[in-house]
Amino acid sequence: MDKRGNTAAQKTGSASFDTDESRLPGAENRQGKVIALLNQKGGAGKTTLATHLAGEFVMQGQRVTLLDADPQGSALDWAQRRAQSGHGRLYGVFGLARDSLHQEAPQIALQADFVVIDGPPRVAALARSALLAADLVLIPVQPSAYDVWASHEMVQLITEARVFRPQLRAAFVVNRRVVGTVIGREARAALADQPFPALQVEVSQRIVFADSVAAGRLAFEVAPHCAAAREIAALAQVVGEMLR
Ligand SMILES: Nc1ncnc2c1ncn2[C@@H]1O[C@H](COP(=O)(O)OP(=O)(O)O)[C@@H](O)[C@H]1O
Ligand SMILES: [Mg+2]
Repeated sequence: MDKRGNTAAQKTGSASFDTDESRLPGAENRQGKVIALLNQKGGAGKTTLATHLAGEFVMQGQRVTLLDADPQGSALDWAQRRAQSGHGRLYGVFGLARDSLHQEAPQIALQADFVVIDGPPRVAALARSALLAADLVLIPVQPSAYDVWASHEMVQLITEARVFRPQLRAAFVVNRRVVGTVIGREARAALADQPFPALQVEVSQRIVFADSVAAGRLAFEVAPHCAAAREIAALAQVVGEMLR
């Protein structure tokens, strides 16, 4: 498995699917669930939600591994910052920005309750590989119609994947909603037009998310009972229920 420094091998091949790849050895016997955070748009919240969801599952006593499938290695950076600042390891973070992700992730899931994939910032072979491994895709989007529309290519790729992996589930997660506001009508309409639902649970724009991750920590560690921590707990609960 690759650590940081060996993660830049992202190939940008065709994003179409080869049905042979859906017949993965052992895919039916694995125990852990694979959750992929995917959206080709940078800044949507893939890394923030992946690191926090993984942490929340650990708090629940689950065995969790986070796979950093972004060649930029932000989740690996987070883990490194965490180690450097002397905070204990919460879960393993491994760099796997390779097209073999779909072969590795199910194997890793044999030893875990949840494998969380922090997805790459483009729709290419890596994202396709993540889709072949995932039980659930979460698409973080900022609450604007533009941001929902900007996920179009990823939505198309997921739709394609579901043709021969009908068990693959997908949902939008609204992230960075401004506290005290509701999502605007246009964004709501754009979400309603999508082929996948948007989760009822939404994650707000809160400084503690950015600050904690920058320090190699998580919101619930910095402020255990803060609103951000409650939102992540609610998100983890919904996700856990979807995968039960
Ligand atoms: N809910 C949030 N509240 C505040 N800042 C956020 C939130 N979600 C993401 N951010 C910040 O936005 C930036 C991009 O988020 P990130 O999770 O890295 O997105 P992605 O992985 O999709 O590129 C980061 O600086 C992160 O700290
Ligand atoms: Mg990221």
